[in-house]
Amino acid sequence: MTVKTTVSSKDIDEAFLQIKDIVKETPLQKDHYLSQKYDCNVYLKREDLQWVRSFKLRGAYNAIVALDEKDQQNGITCASAGNHAQGVAYTASKLNLNAVIFMPVTTPLQKINQVKFFGGSNAEVILTGDTFDECLKEALIYTEDNKMNFIDPFNNIYTIAGQGTLAKEIIEQSNEDNVHFDYLFAAIGGGGLISGVGTYFKTHSPQTSIVGVEPAGASSMYTSVVLENKIVTLSDIDKFVDGASVARVGQITFDISKNVVDEYVQVHEGAVCSTILDMYSKQAIIAEPAGALSVAALDQYKEKIKGKSVVCVVSGGNNDINRMKEIEERSLLFEEMKHYFILNFPQRPGALREFVNDVLGPKDDITKFEYLKKSSQNTGTVIIGIQLNNHNDLANLKSNVDAFDKSNIYINENKMLYSLLI
Ligand SMILES: Cc1ncc(COP(=O)(O)O)c(C=O)c1O
Repeated sequence: MTVKTTVSSKDIDEAFLQIKDIVKETPLQKDHYLSQKYDCNVYLKREDLQWVRSFKLRGAYNAIVALDEKDQQNGITCASAGNHAQGVAYTASKLNLNAVIFMPVTTPLQKINQVKFFGGSNAEVILTGDTFDECLKEALIYTEDNKMNFIDPFNNIYTIAGQGTLAKEIIEQSNEDNVHFDYLFAAIGGGGLISGVGTYFKTHSPQTSIVGVEPAGASSMYTSVVLENKIVTLSDIDKFVDGASVARVGQITFDISKNVVDEYVQVHEGAVCSTILDMYSKQAIIAEPAGALSVAALDQYKEKIKGKSVVCVVSGGNNDINRMKEIEERSLLFEEMKHYFILNFPQRPGALREFVNDVLGPKDDITKFEYLKKSSQNTGTVIIGIQLNNHNDLANLKSNVDAFDKSNIYINENKMLYSLLI
């Protein structure tokens, strides 16, 4: 028997019939704020409003119902940084199957709790490994040992076909508005979403350019397809965009992406943070980092998309409220609004007032001030955080800090010191 390793638009139509009573048809909304900002027609496919707050339910459900009765009864396992796990847990509970769900220990608490909530007594959660890939290894060993069935988060034709069903909805919904998209932007982690969506668009809307968006610190599909022309494992990834931070894409998703993705773009993690905050304040949308990737990519396409019709898949909205401080901090750093220095500070009355008068602009603010060492010396070492009112004032700030203490250290550009001290 030959194993099927590719997906057609017909497979996606069939998946749609399988899952349509379980998944929500999510809205395709014209976004007036983004349309005005980029002088084009921007639509958002709101998968953050899906039952488990991400598209992942589509693929998970489709892959599980594709198992035969006996395999279903043996139970299912998965490895996931969060959203696929929620899809598997939700499905296990709906179909009354046993699920064992492996999640990296770095998974945000909100996602772990949601998995437990959706899975109820049908799902057991095991936290293991620092990255998705380490977690995956453990899950595969357990699956083999217990003769269960592993539901792959992306490298499975049924998972991919399930994810593709959202493209079918986009095309039907946009036909109602008589809109034809010039560009589609969607996040890439392991590549299941882009493979499914890209496949459906290539058949039903071939004029649409498919743009795959990856975090700059984990661009495994771009590296594999464009730079190396073979699958490579990234040795060091930034895990911040948890859903899309995957070190190694799948063989099936690699092969499909080669054919259906027209362009790749990488987005800095700080830009993702600014987009999350913007979506929250301007559009009242709660996007998680991977969910905001597609919208964050528009800035790099400003010129290309002018006057065009664009759809961004807002792929997930599971944002842990405890991450908001970090998101704000990363955004301010990226926007060059927040700056940290170590400097020698005179230990005498009036020194702080002098610093404020001589170094800061009238609307700048001190956000951190910490003595590292109080000594009997004339000066103490201080870590100071300054929030500028205007990022163009950075050169001025640096030269004022130099004048105050020429041996100061600027921490923003020193990753090691930054993570140690801030
Ligand atoms: C919100 C969100 N967006 C995008 C992705 C990337 O999907 P894929 O791994 O299918 O490329 C994920 C994966 O977990 C996700 O959770």
